[in-house]
Amino acid sequence: MGGPRTPMVAGNWKMFTTSGEGAALIGNIQDVVSDVWSRVDVVVCPPFTGLKAASTIIELDHLRIGLGAQDVHWESEGAFTGAIAPRMLVELRCDYCIAGHSERREFFGETNETVNRKVHALFASGITPITCCGESLALYEAGKTEEFVRTQIREGLAGLTPEQAAALIVAYEPIWAIGTGHTPTPEKANDVARMIRATIGAMYGPPAAQAARVLYGGSVKPENAAMFFSEPDIDGALVGGAALKADTFSDIVHAAS
Ligand code: 13P
Repeated sequence: MGGPRTPMVAGNWKMFTTSGEGAALIGNIQDVVSDVWSRVDVVVCPPFTGLKAASTIIELDHLRIGLGAQDVHWESEGAFTGAIAPRMLVELRCDYCIAGHSERREFFGETNETVNRKVHALFASGITPITCCGESLALYEAGKTEEFVRTQIREGLAGLTPEQAAALIVAYEPIWAIGTGHTPTPEKANDVARMIRATIGAMYGPPAAQAARVLYGGSVKPENAAMFFSEPDIDGALVGGAALKADTFSDIVHAAS
């Protein structure tokens, strides 16, 4: 890294932390990453129930840790039992929200169209989406990664303004790399990141492509983070398992600094 874009390391806590566990984890994270706050955007994405406690700690302790949700509904209110609207995330001072994680696509029926609605609803509420994309093992083995991911980007990120496109954060997460310990080579991950950037460029122009950040996700660990971060089109990471411990998360944040 080291181009014009500020690196970002975001922790996706998935369905692993209670509110109390998350509060303790943020306390531990602040102790170990505060030396690099000016150089790396550090973000945590707790489950919905942990957002309030996380938001309170971040505000009271003046932490420069960004807060993200893991999902959102695109409507601002309505009879959608179990769903959370963007304005509810705004109230909790969420800066970011993950949209279209492969686990939402696989287990909750999310499509490129619903991802697109969410991305628009988030931007309209002043929340920056972290939009996920990535191919299955079958598509990877069939050599269809770029074709598949390009469609996810074209459809999931359609209809934005160039300014919104410039603020985009896209996480390339090959499904077969998530939680498996397997990863693409950094060069291959960078090839896809470059293609994502080129697709954003074709849709919204070169300035948006240069400004948008592309993260890699999928079995990012302290041992491999620096290799991914040395690639020119990879601007950081979306981290699952290794984000649940302050020391491993800190090592990855430092690798990005
Ligand atoms: P792991 O880092 O546990 O592979 O998870 C990656 C991920 O899905 C982050 O959103």
